[in-house]
Amino acid sequence: MLGFRLRVAVVAGSVAVLVAGWSGAVLAASAPAGYEIAKQNACLGCHTLDRKLVGPGFREISAKYKGDGGAQATLEKKVRDGGSGVWGVIPMPSHPRMSDADIHTVVAWVLAGAPTTAK
Ligand code: HEC
Repeated sequence: MLGFRLRVAVVAGSVAVLVAGWSGAVLAASAPAGYEIAKQNACLGCHTLDRKLVGPGFREISAKYKGDGGAQATLEKKVRDGGSGVWGVIPMPSHPRMSDADIHTVVAWVLAGAPTTAK
């Protein structure tokens, strides 16, 4: 009886390891939600991940606001309403049709350093 229970536990354990390994591989292959939102909303037409194009690179933005607790709220407003003068004279356009949730996610992704693979 004890032998049987042990065997069941061992089999269940290896199934769990297999499932965990498999879902990890699937997650690693998918891009972060913020990156998808940036692509879908043409943010990458003016921003690259790591250097200035029309606007600053997303990783430059992340570096500038590192340690700034108010940056998430400030930048969500900036993406929604647009504005200029922080990086230069070229204005950042407003995005009135983006949902608050998408704006929140894309700004959090920028502040996290604009990773291209999910952790
Ligand atoms: C037409 C070009 C253009 C597009 C499209 C654009 N941006 Fe920008 N963005 C800019 C420019 C130019 C600036 C610099 C504005 C300034 O100097 O205040 C900027 C600045 C920013 C900043 C930093 C703001 C600050 O005050 O430091 C963030 C964050 C940002 N953009 C995110 C986005 C996101 C997210 C999208 C897509 C939803 C997007 N941008 C689309 C041109 C653009």
